[in-house]
Amino acid sequence: MTAVTQDFIQSLPKAELHVHLEGTLEPEHIFSLAARNGIELEYDNPEDVVAAYDFHDLPSFLKIYYAAMDVLRTEEDFYDLAMHYFRRAAEQNVVYVEPFFDPQAHTSRGIPFDTVINGIHRAQNDAATELGVESNLILCFLRDMSAESAAEHLAMAEPHLDKLIGVGLDSDEKDNPPSKFADVFAHARSLGLKLTMHCDVNQKDIVEHIRECLELIEVDRIDHGINALESDDLCTEIARRGLGLTVCPVSNRFVVQNLTGDEIRAMLARGMKATINSDDPAYFRAYMNENLQVLADEAGFTRDELLTLTRNAFEVSWLSDARKGHYYEQLAKVGQA
Ligand code: HPA
Ligand code: ZN
Repeated sequence: MTAVTQDFIQSLPKAELHVHLEGTLEPEHIFSLAARNGIELEYDNPEDVVAAYDFHDLPSFLKIYYAAMDVLRTEEDFYDLAMHYFRRAAEQNVVYVEPFFDPQAHTSRGIPFDTVINGIHRAQNDAATELGVESNLILCFLRDMSAESAAEHLAMAEPHLDKLIGVGLDSDEKDNPPSKFADVFAHARSLGLKLTMHCDVNQKDIVEHIRECLELIEVDRIDHGINALESDDLCTEIARRGLGLTVCPVSNRFVVQNLTGDEIRAMLARGMKATINSDDPAYFRAYMNENLQVLADEAGFTRDELLTLTRNAFEVSWLSDARKGHYYEQLAKVGQA
């Protein structure tokens, strides 16, 4: 069997469908943004910030993730945050991205919605023209806030619909089921937006949450979704609909102590469209290529398996068929090499 080298992974044109822009905030940026905005930090240097990354489950991760965002204040800050991620994407041959952002984590600190989305959008335009990285943005609602707050933020987004492709749902999943947001998601759909939701790994009531995503919300994709494997009929239905699942191996290893290699294989074997993603790469210290490499090195994934996972990402993306065709052609060239 041909070894999966770093060169092979680099050579694959890739799509990323599950990355939180706020989760790309590197410790070095926390320092530079704090300095620019006159904010005093409780850490002396970026190494101390990393040393304090003590997460073992979703709530302990989210606490650190939200606290760090305080340094993001101006449109320029959001531009720089997104542009840094797009540069990393370009370096790793990630050519297409559907990134998430969490507006409520900023408006709740007094940062206007427009400041956030305008900074990110400007970076998306520059990434496309300067770096050749194409992207479409997904607005995530925080599920541990109220449905009313989500509805208010959807109203704030309406003048910006041309800047969005879909809505998602993230943050603390415990006792915050998809059904809580059924009306907001129905309204988002009526505005022409695509729908996805986090079904994080091993959360309370997770199989029921996945069922609600399918039967009540009728999502266009599922973020994580590993626990669908516990239900035969859910697996069958996900495969039948061709629904994508955005799996994040290194993130899972941090949050649930499992790289989920066996589960990813099981999904592929059942015809489910699993994809590989980085989730919060600055925190989990792994961008797209490192996620693929760890699957090869630690779970024995082959070139063909990584090609399938990469192709799946373009297939379940929300690109037009014409753009998908363009990327399939690029990928086929590497597959034949
Ligand atoms: N799950 C839930 N909320 C999040 C995540 C995640 O993986 N990353 C950032 N916010
Ligand atoms: Zn996530």
